[in-house]
Amino acid sequence: MVKSCLLGAVGIVILVGARTLVAQNPATPTFEVVACQAAIRTTWDGVYTDAQAQRGEAIFNDTCAKCHGREGSGTSDATDPCHDMTPTTPSCALRGDRFMANWSSMTLQNLFDRVRWSMPQDKPQTLTRVDTTLLMAYLLRINGFPAGSIELPSETSQLSRLKYVP
Ligand code: HEC
Repeated sequence: MVKSCLLGAVGIVILVGARTLVAQNPATPTFEVVACQAAIRTTWDGVYTDAQAQRGEAIFNDTCAKCHGREGSGTSDATDPCHDMTPTTPSCALRGDRFMANWSSMTLQNLFDRVRWSMPQDKPQTLTRVDTTLLMAYLLRINGFPAGSIELPSETSQLSRLKYVP
């Protein structure tokens, strides 16, 4: 447990460019504790870049918008596939209160898996890890989370340390 926490944390530390700190203090207990605390971040901590969200937007418009609407706002179209499925939430919106509530307290790994394995609904399991990550960056942007200077990672070990917090 402690070991996996340290490994994940080291990945993030390397990402922010603190290679020398890791190299010089590979086994310092103080560093281990600090690194583990720093490793748990939320969607408010600037966990994706603008460039990623922009690339994600292009994929979204090509692949997802026909069901989820422009900018994930859902559609009021009677042919919207979500109408039949969930009569109480007649929209495929990927933003707003319902979406926030669905993902609240989940990790970005959960959202990643949901998109990667079941979307696009008419052609599931066709997205690459990289494209799924770019789409996630775009979903974070349309839900009002700030961009930052560190790219959203694609690795399971890192995504599972990022929490979706409304
Ligand atoms: C053919 C229509 C269709 C396409 C295309 C499609 N989706 Fe969906 N999506 C749905 C439907 C219907 C649901 C809800 C039922 C379900 O899970 O199958 C859904 C659910 C979702 C959810 C969960 C929403 C929630 O509130 O928890 C996410 C996230 C999502 N889609 C993302 C995407 C992304 C990203 C793409 C593009 C790669 C995409 N979808 C393409 C129809 C579609």
